[in-house]
Amino acid sequence: MKSMTQLITDKKAGQAHTEEELQWLVENYTNDNIPDYQMSAWLMAVCWQGMNFEETKALTLAMMRSGACLQLNNVGRPLVDKHSTGGVADTTTLVLAPLLAAAGVCVAKMSGRGLGFTGGTIDKLESIPGFSATLQEDQFLALLQNQGLALTAQSASIAPADGKMYALRDVTATVDSLPLIAASVMSKKLAAGAEHILLDVKVGQGAFMQNQEDAVELARYMVAIGLGAGRNVKAILTSMERPLGLAVGNALEVAEAMEILRGQGPLRLRQVCLRLASEALCLAGLSLTLQEANLKLLELLDSGKALECFRQWILSQGGADIVTTPSLLPQAVLKEEVLSPLSGYVQQIQARIIGEASVALGAGRRYKGETLDLAAGLVLACEQGDFVQKGQILATLHAESAEKIAAAKKMLSSAFVLGETPSLSSPDVLGWVDADGFHSAAE
Ligand code: URA
Ligand code: CA
Repeated sequence: MKSMTQLITDKKAGQAHTEEELQWLVENYTNDNIPDYQMSAWLMAVCWQGMNFEETKALTLAMMRSGACLQLNNVGRPLVDKHSTGGVADTTTLVLAPLLAAAGVCVAKMSGRGLGFTGGTIDKLESIPGFSATLQEDQFLALLQNQGLALTAQSASIAPADGKMYALRDVTATVDSLPLIAASVMSKKLAAGAEHILLDVKVGQGAFMQNQEDAVELARYMVAIGLGAGRNVKAILTSMERPLGLAVGNALEVAEAMEILRGQGPLRLRQVCLRLASEALCLAGLSLTLQEANLKLLELLDSGKALECFRQWILSQGGADIVTTPSLLPQAVLKEEVLSPLSGYVQQIQARIIGEASVALGAGRRYKGETLDLAAGLVLACEQGDFVQKGQILATLHAESAEKIAAAKKMLSSAFVLGETPSLSSPDVLGWVDADGFHSAAE
């Protein structure tokens, strides 16, 4: 077998790896035989040189095999998993997991932590006092049997290679690579065992794929890998040109998810959640049309059944009863408002800058293993298209120190683009990729 140095050299020169080489690399990195500095160099080479489909598939399967592959076939309900490729104020998973479980599917989900300027479901859930997000195989299976809903991080027993690579990519600027994202997402999805997989591929400045072409290619790779492994997969392309919800930051997003589950909350976030959940019900065969699914889901939101499902799920993984007592969520020491410097229409809210500001406030990591301030982040007080007066609040910042607030404020000075005319609103759902290829929503 080639040395790690040779594999880095090969990739740096743009050569393709063999399946055996990728298997060796993943196995030895997982077992701590390859140090982080060599892995970082290899990841950066992949960012520059890419990987072809065969390499991406081989990397995915090697990462999947780095731990247990769950066999989930006796839960008596269709098994669904959903995954977002990452965005800003993208709280969809926290809504979808209990909403879909309330609708009768079994939700077996493996999530990640925050990555770069985007939030991660595991960090969000860990803001709930007591919540345990790292389940062992038997705990995960027991929760699925008992309540049809369980969510776990990558662990020593399930997809450990992704757990390690993900943490390293987060802090080495090696996230925005199509093959690395595809392998990271699909290794988790395949290892967690669900038969129906719904992917939410984010497109735009607040996502890792900045344009639709790249997002479609990423979706095609992931769908093909999933179908090749015998799973039922569909990818929905959704816009991340602007933040999806209003809250950015871990505990703040949990609170916003509860708003949506109470039948309230920001409209665009609610609509995208309903669309994704409808797609999942159709994928799992529980609804025949998106309209039929939508009606069923609205009833679950309005009746409080989805919220109760969320409450039971959080309790089952050790979390505090934040539905009954929302003040149990951590609160920031300092809160400060960002005011509009002039009157005008909010033409754009730059999702990327908003995400980076949330990291500066303490909601995301700058180095590996950094402890997060789970209360930190920001809440937008306006949406694209709104008219704001000079001095009106644009956002409220939450942090533990005045230094962090000052740093974020500086970054945010270019995040809100104001003008004399309202900008045209753009659609949130751009299209989808399934076994037949890409379909644009515009057609
Ligand atoms: N989500 C993941 O799980 N992995 C990535 O690499 C990006 C988004
Ligand atoms: Ca995410």
